[in-house]
Amino acid sequence: MKYRTIEFEDETLKLLDQRKLPGKIEYYEAENYEQVITAISEMVVRGAPAIGATGAYGVYLAALEFKELSSSELLAQVESAVKEINEARPTAVNLSWATEKMLKILRSSRYKDRKSLLRILEKEANNIAQQDIEANKELASYGVKVIPQNSNVLTHCNTGALATVDYGTALGVIREAEKKNKNIHVYATETRPRLQGAKLTAFELVEENISATLIADSTAGFLMKENKVDVVIVGADRIAANGDTANKIGTYMLSELARIHNIPFYIAAPRSTIDYKIQMGSAIAIEERGAEEIKMIGDEKIAPDKIDVYNPAFDVTPAENITGIITEVGVVDPPFSAGLMEIRDK
Ligand code: MRU
Repeated sequence: MKYRTIEFEDETLKLLDQRKLPGKIEYYEAENYEQVITAISEMVVRGAPAIGATGAYGVYLAALEFKELSSSELLAQVESAVKEINEARPTAVNLSWATEKMLKILRSSRYKDRKSLLRILEKEANNIAQQDIEANKELASYGVKVIPQNSNVLTHCNTGALATVDYGTALGVIREAEKKNKNIHVYATETRPRLQGAKLTAFELVEENISATLIADSTAGFLMKENKVDVVIVGADRIAANGDTANKIGTYMLSELARIHNIPFYIAAPRSTIDYKIQMGSAIAIEERGAEEIKMIGDEKIAPDKIDVYNPAFDVTPAENITGIITEVGVVDPPFSAGLMEIRDK
């Protein structure tokens, strides 16, 4: 993508403000970890891998903020900052995966002189960001094989360069299919309530000149019935050890529709999205977001003030509805418990 989603320079984290897209290209600047938490919870930056990298820089900024304290006090303060960062959005495991990686380095290097310690932490955050780009490109090279020539591909939410440090997961596979001249057409769901499909995926598809059509979420079943979808590919926020997958609300519904219509349904995610500590999807914490996301579209109120709202940001697709999980080390086929374990330390 021509814009950087996440950039770190001069002790400042610059995030392409996704709340303003596609209308405005503006960067949000975070100079401390509290501003990083705001950026994650208010969805300036979103998408599991992108918030992972953002969280890593948040840990570095916390260490910078507390650098004058003793080693044990510094560690205690950063640990408490990590707890707050992780709580900013609880479902995507990439966030705690990245912040825990940073904490591990801090614990083992905390007695080093401050300058070296900070340098090591900044380097680790940069590595996490860089490795995400590489993982996505690898993942795309495997994923492209599941996209048939001349096919219609349906995707949900935004899993592109905006949801990662660059390139993307499911949308990265789509990018790769376009590069490989697979002659695809993409159906992008608008993704209510926050409209990541309409605002972000459509933005990336237009930027990349990929043939695409935006649909209302409720159009997906009709399209499938009309034989206009050959394959569904989506991202993930947390994959349990048995393959059950939490992703943007509406993914489960799409997986059921795909199953009924005999359409292959793929998840694309780096291994940082697999949570081996969670055995099955029912144990995944689902973030609930505010009522205004449902009651408003932009600045316009579309529902009465007094109506109750239920707004889970994610749902869980059962492993049996998933055809394959595309990762940076290959496509995992069912049964996923064995397959995911095999790629753990590959
Ligand atoms: O609420 P969001 O926009 O952060 O949700 C994003 C998704 O559900 C994505 O599919 C997932 O994070 C994978 S992004 C590569």
